[in-house]
Amino acid sequence: MMKEINIGLLGLGTVGTGVAKILIENRELISSRVGVVLNLKTVAVKDMNKNRDIRIDHRDMTDDAFKVVNDPDIDIIVEMIGGETIARDLILEAIENGKQVVTANKALLANQGTHLMKAAVEKRVDLAFEASIGGCMPIVKTIRESLVGNHIKAMTGILNGTCNYILSKITDDGSTFETALAEAQKKGYAETNPTLDVEGTDTAHKLAILTALAYGMEINLKDIYTEGISKITPMDIEYARQFGYRIKLLAISKNHEDSVEARVHPTMIPFNNLLSNVNGCLNSITVSADAAGDMLHYGYGAGMMPTASAVISDLADLARNLASESSGRIPLLAYQVDKIKKIRVMPIEDIVTHYYIRFAAQDHPGVLSKISGALGNYGISIKSVHQKGRKANGSVPIVMLSHTAREANMLKALKEITDLNSVTDKPCLIRIEDENYEE
Ligand code: NDP
Ligand code: HSE
Repeated sequence: MMKEINIGLLGLGTVGTGVAKILIENRELISSRVGVVLNLKTVAVKDMNKNRDIRIDHRDMTDDAFKVVNDPDIDIIVEMIGGETIARDLILEAIENGKQVVTANKALLANQGTHLMKAAVEKRVDLAFEASIGGCMPIVKTIRESLVGNHIKAMTGILNGTCNYILSKITDDGSTFETALAEAQKKGYAETNPTLDVEGTDTAHKLAILTALAYGMEINLKDIYTEGISKITPMDIEYARQFGYRIKLLAISKNHEDSVEARVHPTMIPFNNLLSNVNGCLNSITVSADAAGDMLHYGYGAGMMPTASAVISDLADLARNLASESSGRIPLLAYQVDKIKKIRVMPIEDIVTHYYIRFAAQDHPGVLSKISGALGNYGISIKSVHQKGRKANGSVPIVMLSHTAREANMLKALKEITDLNSVTDKPCLIRIEDENYEE
């Protein structure tokens, strides 16, 4: 008879429901591949009386999640509650009890991952988190296992389904930001607090975990420059289109050996960049590695079943490890613990790139030369100037594309321009990533 591994599922919301569905509906398929039966033993929820998309016998449910992590018959805990308080306490208690853990909780990992992983290593248990980044895309496994023989040079990704859905709906369907966000929430893509999505924090959580995995560094969230999409206007999206670009919220990371670039911000990318055609809640990431070269992952980055698919992949790995008594075989953060270093994250002021800048200025003679003069004071050269929009509240939009510039200089110039009497609003700055940008 096949060995049974008992699973305790904490949370039966969007992702938890998907996990339960796959475990129940694909039970035989999974056991025929994994070689053990993954048995969903107990499910913890907050509200036992809630209507559910799935039928689970009430005898297998509880509203006391701590009972589940303390159940000696449970081998693997799947934490699908989210947040950084009760989820952390439950994971730590599960680890303390010697249980394997699967989570999709990138906020918790990015903020407290070092502590959780130390606890797991001490107890020689696995803490798996494939679903925390990129939904169904196997990016953690790719970096940690498939690229084990490579130096990773760079990663660029669309890692938040909610933001990509919103930007796609505004760009392609003329939706408003608010309508698109409400739809993303209804579809189960957004975090409980959607500010985490739209202000770029969720993407930064994912990038913090990825940079740690890729470069052998400690998880360092606080130094990742993070800017979300809430200030992107339909006007900027339309200008981008006229220049041959789409605006995407990108996570960008480059390995400079003694330091890394790790930043999250809206970015203009050319139509022929593969990432510019990744729309809706789809995610994608390009990884550049010294032996493998460039590779691209593409898939659903949020939602019930795609995320659950990644959780099941982790469950299969942990169940196989338990069956072969080989838990702890793969280092949680890809590198042996004593090889993990503190690597400096480059401040945003040090990056060098191209810029789209838009000013609202009074339509008076001489305004343009004052703006150009301020940019020139900091050595910033302008590639093109555009003034096509209509007057609104006495101001006209002036749009400029810059040649390569250092961000510190750009910020100083923008400060000087903002102080001009003829400039009526804060300038809008969007970075451009375009390999074929004409200098
Ligand atoms: P939901 O809000 O849909 O579900 C949360 C679940 O946790 C609910 O079932 C809730 O119970 C349960 N819960 C809350 N508090 C407790 C408690 N004290 N004890 C037991 N159960 C509790 O969240 P999601 O499924 O969207 O997200 C879960 C995790 O997955 C988060 O960390 C999120 O960041 C991550 N994630 C989400 C993705 C997505 O697409 N949604 C994708 C990738 C990761 P009840 O149902 O009774 O209210
Ligand atoms: N809120 C997240 C997103 C869920 O929209 O991408 C997946 O991590």
